[in-house]
Amino acid sequence: MAPIHTALIGLLALSGVLAQVPSYTVTYTAYSKSINTLLEPSTTSTHSKLIDGLYDVGKATTLTADQNTTYYQFLDDLETNVINLNQTKNETTKLYLIGKRIALFNITQPEVFALVNQKNITGWSTLSNFIWITNIINQQQVLTMIAPENGNTFGVSLWQRMVRGALSMAFLGPEMLAFNQFWLNEGVPIVRDTTLSEKAKWAKVYAKFLDVLFTEHPDYYATFYSLDMDFWGSFYQMFETALIFYQDEHVSELVLGDVASCPLLIQFNATIFNKTVLLPNTVRGQFKQFYNALVKDFESTTTLDGRLEIIDGMFGKFIGLQWNYFRWFQYIGLGNFGNFQQLVLYIATKSIVGGSIPENG
Ligand SMILES: *[C@@H]1O[C@H](CO)[C@@H](O)[C@H](O)[C@H]1NC(C)=O
Ligand SMILES: *[C@@H]1O[C@H](CO)[C@@H](O)[C@H](O)[C@H]1NC(C)=O
Ligand SMILES: *[C@@H]1O[C@H](CO)[C@@H](O)[C@H](O)[C@H]1NC(C)=O
Ligand SMILES: *[C@@H]1O[C@H](CO)[C@@H](O)[C@H](O)[C@H]1NC(C)=O
Ligand SMILES: *[C@@H]1O[C@H](CO)[C@@H](O)[C@H](O)[C@H]1NC(C)=O
Ligand SMILES: *[C@@H]1O[C@H](CO)[C@@H](O)[C@H](O)[C@H]1NC(C)=O
Ligand SMILES: *[C@@H]1O[C@H](CO)[C@@H](O)[C@H](O)[C@H]1NC(C)=O
Repeated sequence: MAPIHTALIGLLALSGVLAQVPSYTVTYTAYSKSINTLLEPSTTSTHSKLIDGLYDVGKATTLTADQNTTYYQFLDDLETNVINLNQTKNETTKLYLIGKRIALFNITQPEVFALVNQKNITGWSTLSNFIWITNIINQQQVLTMIAPENGNTFGVSLWQRMVRGALSMAFLGPEMLAFNQFWLNEGVPIVRDTTLSEKAKWAKVYAKFLDVLFTEHPDYYATFYSLDMDFWGSFYQMFETALIFYQDEHVSELVLGDVASCPLLIQFNATIFNKTVLLPNTVRGQFKQFYNALVKDFESTTTLDGRLEIIDGMFGKFIGLQWNYFRWFQYIGLGNFGNFQQLVLYIATKSIVGGSIPENG
């Protein structure tokens, strides 16, 4: 059973609204070149330009009192828990983490998101473009790190060198030994496998870390996750991206299949009946209804896109009505795929992640 890596315990709730679709090829170059200016301090307040700009966006948007509260809570969370987080040194990494948080807001509060998404942030561009651009920047960079460097015949990759570098900097001798052995046995064959795409390599490496290294050494989990990976931020942050590659490779087998054998449904049901998962009875009752509705809709929809749309829409509707249930969805564990919250986050960013990366727009 994989540890739960709860990336983003979000605030709130929901789905399926008309987020503005950015015209990528036109805007990419200009916006991606200037996106880092949003992290500069504002000249008129103690906030960053991004937060200042988002305050202005809030002022310029007609929100109900509840929506206003929700929006400002989101900004506070973003500023406190992401922007001001000292562990994240590299600007690119920081932008990516901000983008993920905004993406989560889009899922949990699509109505508010759709309203504020209609305004440019301090003359830059919209929140949608922020999510889109930061995802693409990060994916592009991380993806190639798994390949053997310059065709290195021993399968040495940038990723391997970086993990070793980080362990060495932290004087973690036993961890280094364990990693070296793990990598030789598990990592190198994957990296050298020329039949695999880079994405597939990441997916396999990701699962091996969880199934082998962190299973044999559960106490190394936290140590590795906090490793400083230089300009990438922490090991954990890179692993979040590796998780997306894993999810891309495995989402079909998770959500497809007859309702009696669909792994998502089986694991959802198992959580409802699992007495060691400490769900309040009200939550368990609500989960049963959610599960039954999911089964019903899955019976008539058998395509991947169709089912993802169902999950996204249903989660949105449910959480939209009672957002305090949001946090309980992390207890629906989906093995190496993560948990139900992470599945929804995956769906929300799938079109970006799974899309091809255009040349300069
Ligand atoms: C929205 O919330 C912010 C922060 O609490 C507050 O300063 C602002 O006056 C509110 N705006 C409206 C229209 O309620
Ligand atoms: C982050 O760094 C700043 C400046 O060095 C410091 O004032 C602040 O206390 C640090 N915050 C945390 C949470 O460590
Ligand atoms: C945002 O600004 C750009 C250029 O500055 C402009 O083309 C675009 O229409 C603006 N978008 C919105 C939603 O105002
Ligand atoms: C916002 O959420 C909607 C619905 O979940 C999704 O279709 C859209 O791609 C999201 N927008 C961004 C920029 O992530
Ligand atoms: C941040 O990481 C990116 C990713 O490779 C790198 O290109 C950039 O130089 C780093 N920035 C700093 C300030 O280290
Ligand atoms: C749900 O899980 C319970 C307990 O393990 C089991 O008895 C039941 O058959 C499962 N239902 C379905 C539809 O899989
Ligand atoms: C029940 O949940 C516990 C704790 O998450 C887990 O260790 C166990 O494997 C689960 N049992 C089943 C049958 O899913």
